[in-house]
Amino acid sequence: MPGYARRIGTMAASVGQLQSLSSSLVGGYKVSFGAGAPAVEAYPFEKLREISQEVFSGPETGLDAVKYGSTLGLDSLREAVRDHLLAPRGLEADIKNIMITAGGIQPMNLLCQLYIEPGDVILVESPSFIHGTTIFKMFEARLEPVKLDDEGMDMEDLEEKILRYRPKLVYTVPTFHNPTGVTLSTERRKRLAELASKYDVAVLEDDPYREIRYSGEHKPFIKSFGDDHIILSGSFSKIFSPGSRLGFIVASDEQIARLSDIKLCTDTCTNTVSQAIAAGFFKRGYYEDHLKYLCDLYRSRRDAMLKALDAYFPSCTKHTVPDGGYYVWAEIPGLDVKALAPEVGEKLGICYGIGSTFYTEGNPEGAGLGTMRLNFSGLTEDAIEENLKKLGEYFKAKLGE
Ligand SMILES: Cc1ncc(COP(=O)(O)O)c(C=O)c1O
Repeated sequence: MPGYARRIGTMAASVGQLQSLSSSLVGGYKVSFGAGAPAVEAYPFEKLREISQEVFSGPETGLDAVKYGSTLGLDSLREAVRDHLLAPRGLEADIKNIMITAGGIQPMNLLCQLYIEPGDVILVESPSFIHGTTIFKMFEARLEPVKLDDEGMDMEDLEEKILRYRPKLVYTVPTFHNPTGVTLSTERRKRLAELASKYDVAVLEDDPYREIRYSGEHKPFIKSFGDDHIILSGSFSKIFSPGSRLGFIVASDEQIARLSDIKLCTDTCTNTVSQAIAAGFFKRGYYEDHLKYLCDLYRSRRDAMLKALDAYFPSCTKHTVPDGGYYVWAEIPGLDVKALAPEVGEKLGICYGIGSTFYTEGNPEGAGLGTMRLNFSGLTEDAIEENLKKLGEYFKAKLGE
């Protein structure tokens, strides 16, 4: 057989880690704090059934849903993005600058095809979203980490790394960051947009969690402070359904034209059945109430997690306090939580996101050893409390506390 392409090698280590994280989504463990999926009760089944029937009841709407669609996506869904996801958060965009994608992951793939040559540097937060960094490795990019604190990416470190590495792209998850849950401050958003144009670097603003906010004020998009250097991407996975595989990109006329060529050659268009149903969901005015329902559902889960961490975890534990999204990032200095994970799975039937998995190359050896990504969206308050108590007691025993 002919040899595989070089990218299979460059992505191998990263994809292995991604697979082990994904396995916590599809089962095996009784209790998963490792997942990153909506709660089962978060899917609007009844409404989807009703809309699907309507979509297929009329020849016109039915045809729209089953024929090849435009590469940019259905106008009705692009209008929904403009009117429900961008304008209410202060970003005015024309639908000609919005492209519907297959989930929020595809924008990374398309953007790498647009900008990344093997060996190009991409700056990523430390830690960073592992699915994103795996895609970057697939394109043979070199990753360099940028410091992250409670206000998101550190702009001084970013400028220093831009000057040192001359990157092609900066990748950021600015709102309720995956994996840490932190949010980039408004000041830093402005600064990031300035640095991008000053040094001619593209920025991918990957913002799939921004709508799911439980406390505090919405922050402006980085794109609203910047020029064409800022490319925004979003997803319907957390606010509608991940199985629909819908996301979007907002970019300039020129970038959208190129990205559309790339998408045409990649998959022609995004699934039109999913697009038609999602567009119907927004058109019928269901979205706003659904979002409120999601935020109420997850807010109390977040609160339960924060309370249980403070009550039951070792006294040296540090953790983030996210205003939204799905994750709390916890650190227990002195414990190797990766090494303990198999025993935790076996004895307690619990899994968590192993923090060190989210640190890319370029980080010091052993970075994130005591860190964990803890997802709260998928478990009830009682399950969160009961299982974090077990987990906390287990960790305390390991520390002799
Ligand atoms: C940081 C980040 N970007 C993008 C996505 C989009 O994923 P999907 O392709 O499922 O819409 C996710 C989902 O987990 C995410 O966490």
